[in-house]
Parts: sequence; C-alpha cells; structure tokens
Amino acid sequence: MTPSIASLVPESSIVSTVSQDIAKGELPPLPKEIDASSYTTVLTFYLNGVKQVVRNPNPEGTLLDYLRLNAHLTGTKLGCSEGGCGACTIVVASIDPDTNSVYYAAINSCIAPLIFVEGKHLITVEGIGNVKNPHPAQERIAYFHGSQCGFCTPGIVMSLYALLRNTDGSPSKDQIVEAWDGNLCRCTGYKPIIDAANTFVSGCARGKDCCKNKSNGQGCGGGPNGTTTNSDGNGMEVDMNKLMSPNGMPLKPAYTADQELIFPPSLRKYELPPIYFGNFRKVWFRPTSKAQLLQIKSAYPSAKIVGGSSEIQIEIKMKAANYNVSVFANDIPELKAFSYVPGQGLHFGSNISLSRLEEVLHALIEGSDKFSLPKLEPHQTGFFRAMLHQLKYFAGRQIRNAATPAGNIATASPISDLNPVLVSAHAVLTVEQEGKEPMELSMADFFISYRNTKLPTEGIITSIFVPETTKLQHVAAYKQAKRKDDDIAIVTSSFFMEVDDNNVITQARLVYGGMAPITLAAKDASSFLVGKNLLDRETLESTFSCLERDFNLPYGVPGGMATYRRGLALSFFYRFYNQVKSDLNLEFDADVLTEVTRDHVKGKRDIVNPFESRILGKSNPHLSALKQVTGEAVYVDDIPPQHGELFGVQVLSTKARAKILSVDFSAALEVPGVVDYVDINDLPNREANMWGSVNGYEPFFADGEVFYAGQCIGVVLAETELAANEGMRAVKVEYEDLPFITTIEEAIEANSYFDHIKPQTYKGDIEEGLKKAKYVFEGTNRMGAQEHFYLETQGALAVPEPEDGELKIYSSSQNPTETQHFVASATGVPDSRIVCRVKRLGGGFGGKESRCVQLAGLASIGAVKTKRPVRMILSRAEDMQTSGQRHPFLFKWRCGFDENYKMTAYEVDLYCNAGWTMDLSKGVIERAVLHADNVYFCPNVTVRGWICKTNTASNTAFRGFGGPQGMFACESMFYEVADRMNIDLDELRRINYYDKTQNQSTSFKQAITEDFSIPEIVEQLHVESDYEARKAQVSAFNKEHKWIKRGITTTPTKFGISFGALFLNQAGALVHIYHDGSILLTHGGTEMGQGLHTKMAMICAHELQVPLDNVFISETATNTVPNTSPSAASASSDLNGGAVKNACDQLNERLRPYREKFGPNATMREMAHAAYMDRVNLSANGFYKTPDIGFIFGEENPKPAFYYFTQGACVSEVEVNMLTGDFSVIRTDIKMDIGRPINQAIDYGQIEGAYVQGQGLFTTEQSLWFAHNGQIFTRGPGAYKIPGFRDIPQEFNVTMLKDRPFNHLNTIHRSKGIGEPPLFLGSTVLFAIREAVKAGRKQFGLDDVLVLNSPCTAERIRLAVGDDIIKRAVVTPKKGEKPFLVEA
Ligand SMILES: Cc1cc2nc3c(=O)[nH]c(=O)nc-3n(C[C@H](O)[C@H](O)[C@H](O)COP(=O)(O)OP(=O)(O)OC[C@H]3O[C@@H](n4cnc5c(N)ncnc54)[C@H](O)[C@@H]3O)c2cc1C
Ligand code: FES
Ligand code: FES
Repeated sequence: MTPSIASLVPESSIVSTVSQDIAKGELPPLPKEIDASSYTTVLTFYLNGVKQVVRNPNPEGTLLDYLRLNAHLTGTKLGCSEGGCGACTIVVASIDPDTNSVYYAAINSCIAPLIFVEGKHLITVEGIGNVKNPHPAQERIAYFHGSQCGFCTPGIVMSLYALLRNTDGSPSKDQIVEAWDGNLCRCTGYKPIIDAANTFVSGCARGKDCCKNKSNGQGCGGGPNGTTTNSDGNGMEVDMNKLMSPNGMPLKPAYTADQELIFPPSLRKYELPPIYFGNFRKVWFRPTSKAQLLQIKSAYPSAKIVGGSSEIQIEIKMKAANYNVSVFANDIPELKAFSYVPGQGLHFGSNISLSRLEEVLHALIEGSDKFSLPKLEPHQTGFFRAMLHQLKYFAGRQIRNAATPAGNIATASPISDLNPVLVSAHAVLTVEQEGKEPMELSMADFFISYRNTKLPTEGIITSIFVPETTKLQHVAAYKQAKRKDDDIAIVTSSFFMEVDDNNVITQARLVYGGMAPITLAAKDASSFLVGKNLLDRETLESTFSCLERDFNLPYGVPGGMATYRRGLALSFFYRFYNQVKSDLNLEFDADVLTEVTRDHVKGKRDIVNPFESRILGKSNPHLSALKQVTGEAVYVDDIPPQHGELFGVQVLSTKARAKILSVDFSAALEVPGVVDYVDINDLPNREANMWGSVNGYEPFFADGEVFYAGQCIGVVLAETELAANEGMRAVKVEYEDLPFITTIEEAIEANSYFDHIKPQTYKGDIEEGLKKAKYVFEGTNRMGAQEHFYLETQGALAVPEPEDGELKIYSSSQNPTETQHFVASATGVPDSRIVCRVKRLGGGFGGKESRCVQLAGLASIGAVKTKRPVRMILSRAEDMQTSGQRHPFLFKWRCGFDENYKMTAYEVDLYCNAGWTMDLSKGVIERAVLHADNVYFCPNVTVRGWICKTNTASNTAFRGFGGPQGMFACESMFYEVADRMNIDLDELRRINYYDKTQNQSTSFKQAITEDFSIPEIVEQLHVESDYEARKAQVSAFNKEHKWIKRGITTTPTKFGISFGALFLNQAGALVHIYHDGSILLTHGGTEMGQGLHTKMAMICAHELQVPLDNVFISETATNTVPNTSPSAASASSDLNGGAVKNACDQLNERLRPYREKFGPNATMREMAHAAYMDRVNLSANGFYKTPDIGFIFGEENPKPAFYYFTQGACVSEVEVNMLTGDFSVIRTDIKMDIGRPINQAIDYGQIEGAYVQGQGLFTTEQSLWFAHNGQIFTRGPGAYKIPGFRDIPQEFNVTMLKDRPFNHLNTIHRSKGIGEPPLFLGSTVLFAIREAVKAGRKQFGLDDVLVLNSPCTAERIRLAVGDDIIKRAVVTPKKGEKPFLVEA
C-alpha cells in the first residue's frame, strides 16, 4: 500500500516556525476598552501536515501571497485575483461544529486573507502528491490527458480533492461538475478532465463493458470497438485495481481515504484564540465571540467586517480600497448558528457560509440526517426553495464555501442574488451594536440607494430570519446571466404571490435585481396585482404594462442591454405567472417552466489509429502532465526570486486618445519600497523605443501622446509588487483629450485605415458572374473580438549580467527570437548578448506571439537601468487591457447563384479592427482573405481586406489568425442565402463544394488537389451522427414546443497550413546525444500546452530508435536554436518536426557503423559510448523549410499559399430557451482529417479544446468597451465569460477521417497541423442556435431572414425571437443617445 504523506512525517516532529519578514513597522497598541491580554499576534495552522506558527504576518497579503512568497509553494497559481478562475484553489480542512466531522472546503486563495486558515489545516496541490507518488486525482487527470498547459490544473485537482475527501472518494457525477463550477480551463475543453473524475464515481460508467470484464487488459477508457467511452451508464461496480488510462497505462489501485493526509490531531483540541496583528498601515482582528466583535466595532466604528472577503478583496485589488482595520467575522459560532422555529421560519447566523446555508435549506426541503432539522411540507418552503435555487447559480463552489449572506446583504449590490429573495420574503435582519439593544430591520425597505442601506455604520448584522410560507403562498426565483454557472446576474428576481381559493391575488411582491441601482420591488406591478383574479387575461397584460412603467430603462442605461433587461423582467414574470397557475392545477403554458437540458457529459473519441507504430501514433500523455497536476511544473512567475529583484508595474493611460501634458512621478518615489521609475527618457535613443513584429513601429513607452486606454507611459520599479502598485497609483498624469475611435463602423466613417496594406484576391469577373446569376443577394455580418484568456497572464523576468550588456530574459513567450531581438534593440546591444529562455507557457493561443515582447522589453529596460533583475507579471485586468484580442470583423458581401444553385459570383469586403498599431494585422487580414472561400467553389470571386485603425489595444494573433473570421463571413452568407432561396442548406453546400476531380482552384488560385476531403468528411460524419434522422426529430420537437426550441446543423472547415510570411516557414533543432545514451533535444518551438515537446520527443525517439524516456527537452532558448519562428500557425509540429528529423538523420548516419557493429538490439548507451570513444560528433543541428509555397498577393499566377489544408466538419444540436436566451449544446460530433497523427490523444485534445474555445468565441465571449471613454469594460472573468465545465456539449464525439492512407501528404510522418483548424467548428453552435431561433420566430409570424451576429449571446438570442413580450420591452435610443457599452 502507498504510504500516506502524513505517515511519513510524524506529527510530533513537524512543528516549524515561519515568520513573515515583510511586515513593516509597529503593531499599534489596542485601545483600553479591548482587553489586549486575551489577544495573540500569532497565527497557528497546519500546511500540508506541517505545523506553522506565524508571528505577526503581513496584514496586506492574501493566503496565496503567503503560499507563494513565504512558504515558497508555487504550485498554486494566480490566474485572475478575483475569485473567477479557480487557478488558486486550495483546500482548508476544519472540524465542522455542526457535525463534528472534518469538512474540506475548496476556496480561492487569491481573495482569502491568511487569517482564514488560523486553527485549520491548509492543503495545497504539493501536499497531496508529487511526480513520484501522485494522488489518484492527480494521476488520473494526467493520464486521461486532462492537462495541457497545466496552469489551471492544480486548482482543478484541488477542487476534485476536496470533493473526494467530503464524499469518501465516491462522488456522484452531479457533485463532480458542481465541484468545478468555479474552475476554468482554456485548453482542454474539459471533457478529459470530467472523464478522469468520472472514474471515481462508484458504479462503472460502462456497465457490462467495464474493463474488469476484459481479458485483453484494455484500459479504463478503452471501450468497445476501439472507442473511448465515459460516463453515461449506471452499470456495475468498477474493479479499481484494474483501472487504466485510455492509453492503457495502469493507474493506482482504488482510491481510499486512508492514504490521505490526516487531519492534525492537535487541531481537534485547538481552541481558536482571539487574534490581533498587523502594522501601522493595517491591522487585523479575529474575534471568536460576538461580544468581542461588537467591542471591536465600537472601538473602531469604521472597521471593516470581513466575511468570505469575496467582495472586499475585489475592492482592494480592483479599486485600491484601503481597509486599515479589518475584522474577520467568520469564526464566531453565534454568527454561524441556525435553527428552525416551528410555524415561523428559519433563523440563521449572518456569517454562515453559503455552502452550509445551501445544506440547511436542502435539509428543510428534502430532509437530511446531517442536522437536527425537520423536513418541511413543500408549501412551507417557498422562500427556502427560492434561496436554494439562487445559491445553485451563485458564484462557484470556492466562493460559496467562504462567502456569507451578510456579505451579500451589506454589499447591497443591485445584482445580488440573495437580496431579491430576502426582500420578497420581508426577511428580518438582527443588527447589533455594543451597548445597545439588538434591532430588527426588515429587508422590505433595507436598500436606500446605490450601495446604501439602513445598516448603521457601527451595526453588525448578526442573524437573518426568513419566514416559511403558507399553502396559499407561491414563490419562485429566476436569474439570467451571460453564462449559466459562476456568473453574476444580468437580471435576477424573486416573486411572491398569495392567492385565495377564488384565484384572487391577495398579496404580491415582484422583486428584481439588475433593473435599478438597488434591489427593487416593482411597485406598480406588485400593487396592481393585489385584488386581481389570476385567471383574468387582463391581469397578465396589465401587469406587463405596469412592469414596463416600473422599469422604464433608458437606452444608455449603465450596464447596457436595456431592451434585454426589460424583456427579462417581463419574461420572468410570465414564467412565474404560469408557475403559480401550475401550482394551482390551472391551465398553464408548460414550456415556459422548462429549463434547457443540461445533462452529464458523455461521448467518445475514435481511438483506432491504423498508423500506430512503436512510438509514433501512440497516445502518450503530455510529457509534463505529472508535473502539472502536482504543481511541480515551473512557469515564469514560479522562478524563485533573484538576488536584488524588483517588481515592475506599468503606469497605463486612462485615456483612449490624448496629449500627455505632464507626468509627475515624484510621489511614487516617496512610496516606501519604490526604487525607480522608467520611461522613454531612459532609452538610449528614440529607435530603441520601437518594436513590432514586421517593421518595428510600436513604442514601448508613450511619446507625448497616448493612443488607447492601456498604453504604457512608464514603469514603477519597487521591492515588492504591493509597493510597485502603490507607486503606480501615485504617478500623476495630465492629459488633453483628443477625439477617439473605438469601433469598425466609426473607423469606416472616419476613413481610418492602415491603408498601405489592402490584400485582395480575385478570380474571374464579378459583374459577369452576377449577370449569370438567377439570384443575387447582399448582406452585412459582424463578428466581435475574443480575449485569449490564457490562464497564465503575460510575464517576464529580466536578469542583467554584469558584463558586456548581456541579459537573460525569461518570458512567457511564443516567440523567443522576436523577444530576444527587441530586448536587444531596446537595451542597445546585439542580439547575440541576449538569451531568451522559455520553459513553458500557461497557454498562449497567439496572444503571446508578439504581445509578449512589450513586457519583456519593459522589464529589460528596467533591469538595465537599475542593474537589478526585474520581474513583471501582468494582473488579469492589466493583461486584458493591454495585450489585444482576436480582431473584430465587419463583412459586406454580395453574391449570385444560378438556377441550379451554383454560385456564380462572390464578392466580400472584410474589415478588421486592428486597434492602434498594426502588430500582426497584416497577416491576420491576409489569412481572413484566404479563408473567405471556406470550402466552396466560385468562378468569379473578389475578396478585399481592410485594416481599420482605432483607439483600442492593438489586436493580435489568436488561434485561427483571421481564418475563422473569413470563414464566418462565407458561412453566414450561405445560411442567409439558403433561407432566401428556400433551399436546404446541406443541399446548397453539396452543390457548391470544391470538386477535386474538376481541376478547380481556390479563390486565391491554389489548385484543389486530392487532399481536399470535405465531401467525404461530411458524408461519414452525417452517417455516424445519424444526422438526417435527428434533423427530422428536431423538427418534430419544435412543432411540439413553443418556448424551448432545438436546432441542428453542420459546419465544414478547411484551414490552410503554412505561415503567410514565407520566411517564417523554417525551423531548427539541436540534438545532443551524451555518451551515457541520454538525449537532450532542443527545437525552435515553445510548449504552451499544445503538446509540441511531447510530439517532438516522440519523433526524436522514433528516429533514433530509443525509448521515449531517453529523450529530454529542457526548454526553448535562443542560444541553443537561433532565429526561430514563433510557435504559431499550426505549423510548429511540421516545421520543428522536420528539423528534428533532419538532425536525427545526421546522427543516425554517424551511428550507422555502431548499429551494424552492435546489432539491432544495441542500446543507445552502448552505441553512444563507443562513438564518443571514437571521437564521433554526437551533436547535430537540424533544419527544415517548407517546400513549394510562396504566395504573393496580386501575382497573376501565384505559388500556393498553403502546403496543405487541415479539414473537418461538425454537427451540433442545441436547445434554446426563447424566453430567456439560455441555450445548451445537446450533442456535438466532429470529424477531422488529421492525416497520420503523431500522438492521437494530443490531437484530440487540440480538437476538443479548440472547438470549445470556438464555441465561446461564437456564443458567450463578448468583449465590450465603454462608449463614452473608449476603455475596455471586460477586464476579468467577472465580466468576460469563457465556457465552463457545464457548457460543453452534453454528448461530445470526436472521430477522424477514415479509409485514407494519406500517402499524398509529404509532411513529417504524414501528419497534419491541428492546433487552429477545429476552432471554427465552434460556430456550429451559433448556426444551430440560428436554426432554433428561426423556428421560434416562425411561430411568432416572423419569416424574414435572420442575421445573427457573433457572438450570439443570450441577449442577442432573446432579442431575435421577436415575440410579443420582447416587442413590448424594446427601448429605442433618443436622438444622439449612445449605448453604454459597444463592441469594437
Ligand atoms: C467570483 C465571484 C462571483 C460572485 N458571484 C456572485 C453571484 O453569483 N451572486 C451574487 O449575489 N454575488 C456574487 N458575488 C459577490 C459576493 O460573493 C457576494 O456578495 C458574497 O455574498 C459576499 O459575501 P462575503 O462574506 O464574501 O462578503 P465580504 O467580502 O467579506 O464582505 C462584503 C461586505 O459585507 C460586509 N459584512 C460582512 N459581514 C457582515 C456582518 N456580519 N455585518 C455587517 N456587514 C458585514 C463587509 O464589511 C463588506 O462591506 C461574487 C463574487 C465573486 C468574487
Ligand atoms: S486566481 Fe483566484 S480565482 Fe482566479
Ligand atoms: S490546461 Fe487548463 S488552462 Fe491550460
């Protein structure tokens, strides 16, 4: 049996003392009314089984700061600082006083204060396992390919760990996805992670096909007929001792909790002491009784009471709020107690955790033997059910484990989820103050104005009472957010109605959040309802009218979405009205009560690889997977502090465009810890200020004028990040405003283009083509930006060397060579003196291809000036403000089709928003132009690209690099013209696909060869996904449902592989064989999660005929392989793989005599040693360049633009709620032509991950800017919604094109690039939603052509439905009125 970690370290020997030395200054004495003798300044807790005694720690740090800076445990990551991504998840174990058992709470360490863990056991990813001895959760996620870049992984592991501990290792599938509702992953598409976790579910998902019934040892995950299946059955128990990963790697035997860290026995007896610590800047109290709390608040009336800190820490981080006396209130038993008062209702302590509150409510509603609470009659639980419903969609589990109802109430956010229920319930707060009688405040009129309540300054909410309901009373709560899970509301509501036996309404309270600056009861509507008969049609109609008056939002309302919000207010009431009728067994509109289906995820990957050999084609896990799941993998910010290191924070422009009148940084230099300020004046010359991918025209520092809100003016360098931030805030910049442009439309109107580049392709003659057409159409579509949202933000560490201007730069860069080059030019030395080193990136997706240079340059300039190492790690908000996004596009098209529906003419203008500099926009627009044909032939084509210059951050590369935008223009056109010509779209497509037998060429004159496989892919996909039958089922479903509609559709894609710039299509590799036979491989590509190093090592091992673990890749560095191309364009495997092979070929040639001498079974050790002794060079430098390409725009007979195309198609079926705009993806089937995969699992990971990223692009991910000042609004996970665990297709199948030998491919081992091509398939969800919405519109009498722009957010969906409710809600702008937020 594996020894437990705790058993390796006996408790008696583990007392250690950690003192934080960064606390500066004296702890102020306590006022006399507080008995100082009962307080201690020492925090005691356990960290991974080891006792910690921390004396007077830094009061300003978070728990995560403590872990990373003081305990030097860097496994826990910082992804956002706002509780929105889960990368920082740790587990806090403590004795639950209600049950006397240990509860394992996953919480966000980025927003938790250190005091949170006092007297508890803090467990981090390092504490549960390591590479040699991983925890089963770690091992299974690694071997099920659930970690790509690995930055999210420790947090995901810890959420699962908490669940396993709380469920004795046997969670249900519901509990699994629910445990991850506060975790995000940007790489994997989640499915492999869910598959891994489902192996813990008791009862095998595969029923009779369970691996224990197999004699051939096929691993867990290896299902029948070569498919991997997961979790859709209820079947038999798994024999966990035979558990294997999908590629047959044996896993640890069955999970049992006795291998786990024990709960430290001494903590069971530990009595929490009152605590007081801090310094002259800030102090913390941790009272342990209500009396102490009241006393502290009386002594310090402005003291900040801290519950879960989920609101407070955001204010500290984002708004620099300064709470210099903070009082932690979550360890006071009286404030966490709860009781049911028979016949009255529920009393609960104000600072009970929301998770515990959920359990209490659940016990009252469903019954539970966990607490001594009765199970109530359903009619008694109206408000309790409403609260439970709101809590289900309230933040993520980590937040609910820490946050409190008092925090929600006192914050008084207008979009709070609990407050509407509490107001509609007329809940009562008990508020206490030292020396005064407790007072009761009704929630009915608690909120006064924006974030202003009746709570007295010195008052503390100590408990909350929520009444039970009677048989005549009805309650429901509804919430709509951009994303279903872990998202704050757009509109949230709670409705209460009392109806007598004659169906007459005797009481009504319709309470809304998101409709006003406070949680507000709809006054007119609520009072109107009283006395009305429920059955009277007029009741509903007139209530709608009242609601319209109650919520007469202006078009430019803060937060935007005026029509949608009013529409939701009416729709929610309509739903409630029907709910009440349903409760009363009256006739009701059943569909409005239905939520869209959200089932457990299942699906299969087609794992038959006919091309598998000894190494190639095998599904080896990512080489760093075990390091990533255990937190041992090192990213830039995990590199230990260098001697004398400084932290740099940028001073960013707050103006979209302005002259800089003055910059005064003198106050910054006064801030303790600030060392220097750097700006343009510190550069050797003006040229040193310029960098840029193609010709260097973007300044590191503003030079007299700023061109977007977020531009760097200077950098403050300080001893700590905290001081650097404080210094940054002290810098005063005076501006003179200038007019600015945010959107493409504004740029077109102002003729604002980068007009030296206007790529065009043309073939035939458009006008001639249009003459031949029977049908001629034109249209306009739009596609928004997309934030990369790599989990690791941009980071750089510049370390100057003492001699010759040498400098080492560690950068989270996809482009080490460019980083090296511009650091060299900024610091005034030749490239040869700069080394850029990249171990791995926590995701890149193109966002670190060029934008990494800016940060690396700034850090290096600071390092050279101060002669000290400089670290710069962007916060999420800084990253989203400054690093650019996927280019938004506007498309204007014209096309013609003949009487046989063949396209005769196709003309499209593609306008992209480049932002304020060109960056990579030339390449992006060119690729968009080259993909605007998607998969269709047209004899007469003109495609023009326009690069709009605006005052936003410079947009940049993003997976697909303009390709998805070009294809979206084309597909949008196809959907719209099929509707206009009234022809089945699948048929229209079949008629117009390229035909490889007809000597055709693309719109850019590249020959269509036998590589073109779209018709075969679509045919196989349609058969395997049962497409035609399901189309019929969808249509039948839509006939029966009014408010829930389904849509199903197919999307094809063809993605060209090669860099647009010819010179980038080259790569180098360096292979050293040491004389012990071990091999060090270096190549030009960077590892950012895509598995490049794993594939390169496999190629090397295959070529040199050694086991895979003989090959080691340490890093990518410019002093080993120079002049590298960025890892981008899906070409890294082809290019670097070619170079690796070339190096191996040379070595094989040199080793040939030794192979012959020692025979076929000779080990590399034998051969290498012998060769070394014979003075044979065992190091080889490989090189590769792609042949036969070299497209140049405008040439009459150009060379091919691409070496080949990676193609695929996708079928998606969705379900859409017409009343709210909610949707879910019921099923997605993808088929890709990936040639002969080098590592199939990695390729499938890329396909699933890219698809889910694409789904986000086309649905929930909406980047928005403030219209009035041009600043970006979406600056973090709170406002910007990438898909979460429960957003992926509920059935998700991925297969590859079958029955092709791929002999025509001349790529490395006949494989194909895969990183970008599947992304566009995410648009299938948008187009399937379009089909569903069309069905909805039809029944409301709308059959005009639907233009559905991307992203099709819930708002866009709801507005498109066009029913009477949304028509009533429409808000039209007054003359000149601007929207609050705009898409760029
Ligand atoms: C990622 C994320 C997601 C979120 N999602 C949601 C969501 O879906 N729905 C939603 O409604 N909210 C959401 N929130 C907001 C927040 O989590 C809630 O408002 C939460 O209930 C705050 O509780 P807390 O204990 O963490 O408050 P804290 O941050 O500790 O305190 C908030 C305020 O309450 C005061 N306070 C705390 N206890 C008392 C007391 N006993 N007496 C008087 N004042 C007190 C504090 O002084 C402070 O002013 C989210 C926040 C984050 C960071
Ligand atoms: S870093 Fe804490 S939730 Fe994102
Ligand atoms: S593996 Fe999840 S973010 Fe990269």
